[in-house]
Amino acid sequence: MCGIVGYLGDLRATDVILSGLKKLEYRGYDSCGICFHDQTSGNFLTYKDKGRVNHLISDFDYGFTNHFGIGHTRWATHGAPNHINSHPHASASGRFVIVHNGVIENYKELIARYLPAISFVSETDTEVIANLIEYFAVSYPVDLAIRKTLAILEGSYALLIIDTRNPKVLYAGKNKSPLLCGYRNDGICLASDLMALVGVSSDYYVIEDKTFVKVEVADSGYQFSMYDPIGIEYTPMRHEVNLNDDEINKAGFPHYMLKEICEQPSVIRKIMTNYIVDGKFFVDQDILDMFANRKRLYILAAGTSMHAGFVGKALFENITKIPTEVFIASEFAYNKPLLEEDAVFILISQSGETADLRACLVDVKKMGYDTLTITNVKTSTLAREATKFLEIFAGPEIAVASTKAYVGQIAILSILAYVLADKPKIDLIKELSKLAVAMEAIIDKREYIHDLVKNHLVKRNCFYIGRGIDYYTCLEAALKLKEISYIQTEGFAAGELKHGTIALIEQDVPVIAIITQNHIDKNTRSNIQEVRARGADVLIISTNHTMKAEDDIVLMDVHYLLSPALAVIPTQLIAYYKALDLGRDIDKPRNLAKSVTVE
Ligand code: M6R
Repeated sequence: MCGIVGYLGDLRATDVILSGLKKLEYRGYDSCGICFHDQTSGNFLTYKDKGRVNHLISDFDYGFTNHFGIGHTRWATHGAPNHINSHPHASASGRFVIVHNGVIENYKELIARYLPAISFVSETDTEVIANLIEYFAVSYPVDLAIRKTLAILEGSYALLIIDTRNPKVLYAGKNKSPLLCGYRNDGICLASDLMALVGVSSDYYVIEDKTFVKVEVADSGYQFSMYDPIGIEYTPMRHEVNLNDDEINKAGFPHYMLKEICEQPSVIRKIMTNYIVDGKFFVDQDILDMFANRKRLYILAAGTSMHAGFVGKALFENITKIPTEVFIASEFAYNKPLLEEDAVFILISQSGETADLRACLVDVKKMGYDTLTITNVKTSTLAREATKFLEIFAGPEIAVASTKAYVGQIAILSILAYVLADKPKIDLIKELSKLAVAMEAIIDKREYIHDLVKNHLVKRNCFYIGRGIDYYTCLEAALKLKEISYIQTEGFAAGELKHGTIALIEQDVPVIAIITQNHIDKNTRSNIQEVRARGADVLIISTNHTMKAEDDIVLMDVHYLLSPALAVIPTQLIAYYKALDLGRDIDKPRNLAKSVTVE
């Protein structure tokens, strides 16, 4: 959560930082701010406020020569989103200015021990860090003062630090929260996300936990150095910035979410291209060995990724016959069930940075388990820290509501189940190809779905009902509708409704039923009659082989284990169009952030 960008180089720093912050705004958008060095006056200027980056861009003047600065876009943890709590924050004398992504768990203890006399301006833990650096800088050179500060911080941080007495050095520190160092001959950009480096850096380096970073201008040009906690310099791994502007702009769509919904067939095809070698699915032998003869699989994830995990359970149990359990990461971290020893943990995460999941990873690694992360971000913390990882190849997902990553996760889980099975009874290449075609067919009918939405979903609460594998789709469909339209929605096992919740059904309450399986068709349709009898406004999503004349959306037939990746698409479109008609901020819904890096 929160996005940070810092720059030292030949380009105008405010241009680099503001355009970087715009690209990172999906990480947090309560408030934002920037501090930069005005070379004409020699002063550092700080602009910040509640609200979006556009406001920061349009309300202040950047007509100065400037080549050095830091910026931040915030998702509030400590203190309300307002001007005072916005980053950057300065130390009491104003000497040190910092932006911070993460949460410092021991900030109260640090105040009591080192800073009892300081009166803080904001409610943030970040201001404590700026003051600690100032405290140590009284007795030590700046490098050491920062390293001493980093050594006593508990929690997560990606920090960019300016010493206003030295406009030629940008300092940084990193633990748990992501931070990348982008490099090009004409300057260095530090950012919490690869997207901010597009157009500014040709290469990037992933900064390891507990690293102290120094970026400076030397006679030979711009250079950076990275030090481990005991002060030993190390050389990080170099990667190419291989994203282009097309992948991170809206490509003519009004919202990222709609663009990403429409990209789903191509995501399936891209995954196939990346995982098929010589006409067969290929997964690294080390991963196959890691799973060989295991008695149980455990899937850990949060939100939409957890819903993909439920589909993963169906895939593993049906295709590999390995019993599989799915746990909510935030629950598992602090309330562990009795575990099978001969097991592997699969962690599913679009961002690869979800803090709840990372807490689980640390724990299960301590317990000696092998772990596999399935993620869309190959440089992410969860990819690097798990025993192995599989990349989703969905391309950057920018809308806060996850769509293409979800179907990508299901595709990867199906490939993994397939390669682990002795004699899989599914022609997965054929079935995934069919899935992509069926996805295209329903996406092409999106205007029809918009019309349906206009005439339904009039009440401000809603139910999705389904059985078996459709129930998992209902959970995901409900999450999608509520997170972007703010309509209270529940995903319900259709048969369970009558055990209490049916009390909420009254005239015009929308109930959307999903029926993709023959063996539950009759039962779910009985449940539809029950809610209709109580006045519900029912919409039915079915498939060619389950359809009846009354159905509203009919999908092409695909393999039943892959049906959640298809049936979810009309529900994503329902959520999108309802939110559109209600005038919601679709790509950046209130209170949310794309990457949830706090527990
Ligand atoms: O990056 P992750 O997949 O680990 O994120 C997990 C959830 O925070 C995420 O899926 C969230 O539920 C989405 N906003 C749903 O659209």
